[in-house]
Amino acid sequence: MTALLRVENLCVTLNRQHGKGMIEAVSDVSFSINPAETFALVGQSGSGKTTLARAIIGLCPVTSGSIYYCEQRIGIGRIFRKIQMVFQNPYRSLNPYWSLEEILTEPLEILGLPKPERLLRIHGLLDAVHLSSRALDKRPQRFSGGERQRIAIARALAMEPELLICDEALSALDVTVQAQIIALFLELQKRLQLAYLFIAHDLAVVERLSHQVAVMKSGQIVEQGPSACVYAQAQHPYTRALLNASYRL
Ligand SMILES: Nc1ncnc2c1ncn2[C@@H]1O[C@H](COP(=O)(O)OP(=O)(O)O)[C@@H](O)[C@H]1O
Ligand SMILES: [Mg+2]
Repeated sequence: MTALLRVENLCVTLNRQHGKGMIEAVSDVSFSINPAETFALVGQSGSGKTTLARAIIGLCPVTSGSIYYCEQRIGIGRIFRKIQMVFQNPYRSLNPYWSLEEILTEPLEILGLPKPERLLRIHGLLDAVHLSSRALDKRPQRFSGGERQRIAIARALAMEPELLICDEALSALDVTVQAQIIALFLELQKRLQLAYLFIAHDLAVVERLSHQVAVMKSGQIVEQGPSACVYAQAQHPYTRALLNASYRL
């Protein structure tokens, strides 16, 4: 099978904040994501997950290595429509002054969808994330955390992506809402044949979703493989420590 996304020997070096020196936030990372599958990237805070995601979508310069989308090398600094991102904080990622309709209209304008077709498409997007279209004139603060994350997902889907990068997209939500959003991600994957790069710090959270799992520590992937293998027989001590922390064994 041709990989949807392939990352090869990727390194990202950043200037340290407030000081001297550089930090290799992503260090010789290689992996690939199949179409319509979920690749979970797990690791503690500061392990380089967000930097890796930003490098993939062209928001952060790559020091060395390559990124391929359907075996085509994707350029650095170029935002690629087929890859969209959903962020951790649904409170900060939506413009507080815009109505739901305005939030969803923006990507459709970027896509060049003719005006008369936009409202129909917006209804379809709200339907896909199970939000009522009666709320179109409401601003983000009128929605709950879970509803805001649904709006962020609808906005990402508006661009018709094939790969959705979810950076800690469940972390700000409480457990019941997390379960509902996981169910939504699974449903959307089936319906739209979406692939996910699903970033989390907790292995337990991504178990239901992931086909492949990679564990990241200090900028490097220390273990990766099919989800069933990694969860059943983790090889690296760091993975086992994460599993113990997640399931409190
Ligand atoms: N914009 C930045 N400038 C400098 N250093 C950064 C920047 N963003 C992150 N870092 C550093 O890079 C490392 C990886 O951070 P990050 O990718 O945010 O990890 P994670 O998402 O796994 O928490 C950390 O040591 C962090 O302090
Ligand atoms: Mg992060």
